[in-house]
Amino acid sequence: METVTSIVEMKRAAGSLRRGGRTVALVPTMGALHEGHLSLIRQADARANVVVVSIFVNPTQFGPSEDFDTYPRDLERDSELAQAAGCDIIFAPEVDDMYPASSATRVCVSGLTERLCGAFRPGHFDGVCTVVAKLFSIVRPHLAVFGQKDGQQVAVIERMVADLEMGVEIVRSPIVREPDGLAMSSRNAYLSGGERRDAVVLFESLKHAVSRYGAGERNVERIVSEMREMIEAKETTDIQYIAAVDARTLEDVDDAGEGVMLALAVFVGKTRLIDNVILGAE
Ligand code: PAF
Repeated sequence: METVTSIVEMKRAAGSLRRGGRTVALVPTMGALHEGHLSLIRQADARANVVVVSIFVNPTQFGPSEDFDTYPRDLERDSELAQAAGCDIIFAPEVDDMYPASSATRVCVSGLTERLCGAFRPGHFDGVCTVVAKLFSIVRPHLAVFGQKDGQQVAVIERMVADLEMGVEIVRSPIVREPDGLAMSSRNAYLSGGERRDAVVLFESLKHAVSRYGAGERNVERIVSEMREMIEAKETTDIQYIAAVDARTLEDVDDAGEGVMLALAVFVGKTRLIDNVILGAE
């Protein structure tokens, strides 16, 4: 496995892979890799000849009071894990190279980014879209794999790719969970013992929603209010939102049905966690 930090070198390598007829998959990450990321890398490996994993803690997607400075960074550990999962090239650029002082372009997808997490994290998705668009220009992948855990992020990226005719296939990879159901996230490491126990209620509430849907309940308001009740019963939780939306357009829906995504963001202590399920899919 190779580690590339220079944009020029990455572009050169990408160009020669393309010319050589190799299929290239990109797995964009911010590092702090866990089993969820490794499953994205394995999926990429199964679909492409060459897997590039980008590791870049992207400053433009963090709000002023968010955890950019304290976000865990350990390139050596991440590289070992990525290699074992099937990564061929780690691309780990520097902030000043990705965002030189002269840089003046932001990619902004309207509408979809203004709801759910976007309503509470202004500018977050502009940062995500800008960095992902730039990574696509540098790596020129045939496909890119994103986790369904960030259900809004993957819908926004699909929109960006379609609108800008980027020609990159976007693969949605299922959520990877801890044995008790908590969705894997680099931020789970911030939870205290009690918070970690309370955090399981996020998945339990989603599971409850799926089982109510399975039993024939179609009233979204009722389902969401039952989920709210379950989550609020835990001492350390504070709900930011629970929403029922179309998984691709992110438009609100009134009736539960196939393809509806139930998504939530909840503070557990000071840690903001997100999770979702798509009805009819799991
Ligand atoms: O999902 C993430 O880790 C980030 O938002 C991404 C896609 C790597 C962009 O920085």
